[in-house]
Amino acid sequence: MIVDAQGRRFRNLRVSLTAACNYACSYCVPNGRRLQAAVAELGAEQLLRAVRLLMETAGIDKLRVTGGEPLLSPKFDAFLPAVMRLPLRDVSVTTNGQLLPRKADIIRSAGLQRINVSLDTLNPLAFRAIARSGDLATVLRGIDLMVEYGLKVKVNMVPMRSANVDQILPMLDYCLERGIELRFIELMNMGHLRHDATYGREFFGMDDILALVATRHEFARTDAPFDSTSVRYEIPGKGAFGVIANESEPFCASCTRLRLSSNGYLYGCLSNSKRHAITDLLGLPDDEAREGLRSRLTRALGDKQTVQFTGEVTVMKFIGG
Ligand code: GTP
Ligand code: 5AD
Repeated sequence: MIVDAQGRRFRNLRVSLTAACNYACSYCVPNGRRLQAAVAELGAEQLLRAVRLLMETAGIDKLRVTGGEPLLSPKFDAFLPAVMRLPLRDVSVTTNGQLLPRKADIIRSAGLQRINVSLDTLNPLAFRAIARSGDLATVLRGIDLMVEYGLKVKVNMVPMRSANVDQILPMLDYCLERGIELRFIELMNMGHLRHDATYGREFFGMDDILALVATRHEFARTDAPFDSTSVRYEIPGKGAFGVIANESEPFCASCTRLRLSSNGYLYGCLSNSKRHAITDLLGLPDDEAREGLRSRLTRALGDKQTVQFTGEVTVMKFIGG
């Protein structure tokens, strides 16, 4: 097993099917232009082979399908059922939900148990202002279908001072009513946000979020899984919510995440743009491919931050958080 000096190892793989996205969220892209697919994206079979090899060499047992927007990729329909057949402890998908009604049957028949949907507001006008595309009602229909099909749904919301702070309580009520765990993500200092004053102006942190929730609900901190991104709170009798407190309560020390981009690069850390190509290994026999992967995994593990997320210019939008 490949372990670093802090005792960290990779267990949790996030595979980006495509860098393309059908939204152009204000916190992700600067100019309202949607992200396009990367040059030389891998096919479903190649990605699947990479997943199998990473399970064998790194001990991956948890997998998340991401993007860009994963449901936008034609690979999704074959990739999801195939990874569901692998001996993994947990498989999930992170999506913006716009294509959920169209993909709901594939998701159900693949046997997916849980899904995370990014949604920043329940106000249709604010939705268009943030996502700069898409349609709120379609996302809500997709969420309803997932709940109806019995999947465990989490919703991710990024509160921003001028855009959607007024939605924190309505979003929480919406989620509690449906048995959905809402997670507030502290705005991360990534991409174009690093180059202007928007980040500092828009950041709405954990303390502010909890103070607002406390005006409506009583809650207490509760257990979260060891390598979880979120701090979890229980509202007795009503449900749970979380805060992904990248800034206020960094979780690098227990990070088990490894990322594979759609064009075949491993990223060891969301806060580091260093990457390690593996496409060349996918044409080799298994034992040679595993040998090659081991050294790249060791380097990728060395890319992890020791204490906290420090920001990165390029990564998030290509590898889906
Ligand atoms: P669960 O397994 O359901 O807990 O999912 P998750 O939180 O690991 O995945 P999701 O795709 O829902 O990620 C939510 C957010 O967590 C992302 O958008 C990022 O803001 C944040 N996040 C994910 N991975 C990392 C990481 O390695 N470092 C930091 N700092 N934040 C991360
Ligand atoms: N800060 C916080 N969250 C972000 N996401 C994308 N960019 C940022 C950012 N700068 C989130 C999306 C989605 C997840 C995959 O990443 O809202 O929930």
